[in-house]
Amino acid sequence: MAVRRVLNMGHPLLRQVARPLKATEIGSPEIARLIDDMVDTLHDYGGIGLAAPQVGAGVRLAIIEIAGGPTRYGELEPMPLTVFVNPQIEVLNAQTAGYWEGCLSVPGLRGFVERPRHVRVEYLDLHGEAHAMELQGFTATVFQHEFDHLDGKLFVDRMNDMSQLSFEREYERFHL
Ligand code: NI
Repeated sequence: MAVRRVLNMGHPLLRQVARPLKATEIGSPEIARLIDDMVDTLHDYGGIGLAAPQVGAGVRLAIIEIAGGPTRYGELEPMPLTVFVNPQIEVLNAQTAGYWEGCLSVPGLRGFVERPRHVRVEYLDLHGEAHAMELQGFTATVFQHEFDHLDGKLFVDRMNDMSQLSFEREYERFHL
């Protein structure tokens, strides 16, 4: 297990479309090591999600862990650390909800992004078993943000109003 370096915006690997994992790869020692490293990296950097391309691995794999509790967006439902392999997102309600997003690959910045408020996700777990879940509100945004990384997209690409891109200090001072 090891903490890997998170790539920052501008690194070309963050802009590539990641490839799906083959059934035979899921559960392999290489992928198990990658997941272990991603968990260590997420915990070391702090955050609620990390996608494989952010540590330079071009595969469709992401982890999400939501501590839950009160936030400026209301009470957040906790989600234990979950591994998402080859996730697919379906929009159930295209009506958008807007939140201030941050990203370990865009350190120090926050941006206001509007995304569909209700989505369904189908994915494989680390054993290759299929699951589905429905997500709403801020949690739906977290999932869309993480899975965007698998398509080479960053939250800044989703912003409608770039005047809302802020450094953390100015975000806290003027937008919180
Ligand atoms: Ni991110």
